[in-house]
Amino acid sequence: MELTDKHAIITGGAAGIGRATATLMASRGAAVLLVDRDEAGLKETAEAIASAGGTVHTTNADVSDEQAVQEYVGYAKELFDGRIDVLFNNAGIEGPIADLVDYPVEDFDKVIAVNLRGVFLGLKHVLPVMIAQGSGSVINTGSVASVRGLAGAISYNAAKSAVLGMTRAAAAELGSAGVRVNAVLPGMIETRMLRNLVTQIVGDEQTGLEVVAQSAPLGRNGLPEDVAELVAFLASDAASYVTGAGYPVDGGGLAVMANGR
Ligand SMILES: NC(=O)c1ccc[n+]([C@@H]2O[C@H](COP(=O)([O-])OP(=O)(O)OC[C@H]3O[C@@H](n4cnc5c(N)ncnc54)[C@H](O)[C@@H]3O)[C@@H](O)[C@H]2O)c1
Repeated sequence: MELTDKHAIITGGAAGIGRATATLMASRGAAVLLVDRDEAGLKETAEAIASAGGTVHTTNADVSDEQAVQEYVGYAKELFDGRIDVLFNNAGIEGPIADLVDYPVEDFDKVIAVNLRGVFLGLKHVLPVMIAQGSGSVINTGSVASVRGLAGAISYNAAKSAVLGMTRAAAAELGSAGVRVNAVLPGMIETRMLRNLVTQIVGDEQTGLEVVAQSAPLGRNGLPEDVAELVAFLASDAASYVTGAGYPVDGGGLAVMANGR
């Protein structure tokens, strides 16, 4: 599971799952480029990684903006002598919780733009580098919502289902080029996003976190580090026969999850 000398781009790297993954991958020897639109979070994360001895760079970009994506890929090529080994295509937003019939169209478009178009743009602009070098590992962040319906989250559900579909299509297309494409499907992971979601649904953050923790057989919410371990494995050569798959990291939640409300 060594990542020595791997060059990795991590979107949404300023916080939560992206931050934990960047920290773990850097500790295993990867040079990481954090892509995010949160300048303060980028700085804080990069300082923590650098002070632990890791190699880290940052760039401020909105993953839903094609020009910004082309720029972060260009910057990665410059930093990494043209080689990109890993793309963790992870930036995402949750959008509001609202009934489908009331769901604001502008919020629908925003969630699709970041969570679906952003992942597509990352693939579109990083893959040419991986194809040319004949190797690479992409990990897209899906969700348990990639495979189950979540009431009140129509756009998030649509985007995350499509992320798993894109993962499979990309794996089918790129296997012969030596490039692997997988997805991770996190369950209830304690980050800003989950805290906001449970507060919207339950009304009180602490109670909400306790309620969702009970939805998983393991009886607790996940930590960003739990997801990072799986991503780091998929990024590594230890996963060299793994592609086109979507792996839950959810404390067993999907094994027992009921659909709908
Ligand atoms: N936390 C969970 O329970 C959970 C569960 C399933 C899936 N996920 C997915 O995991 C990924 C990471 O989420 P998280 O929980 O760490 O949330 P988070 O809010 O802590 O982190 C998301 C990061 O993405 C960045 N970001 C958002 N929009 C961006 C954009 N347009 N361009 C660049 N950066 C952008 C944010 O600034 C932030 O740093 C998301 O794709 C999310 O949908 C999270």
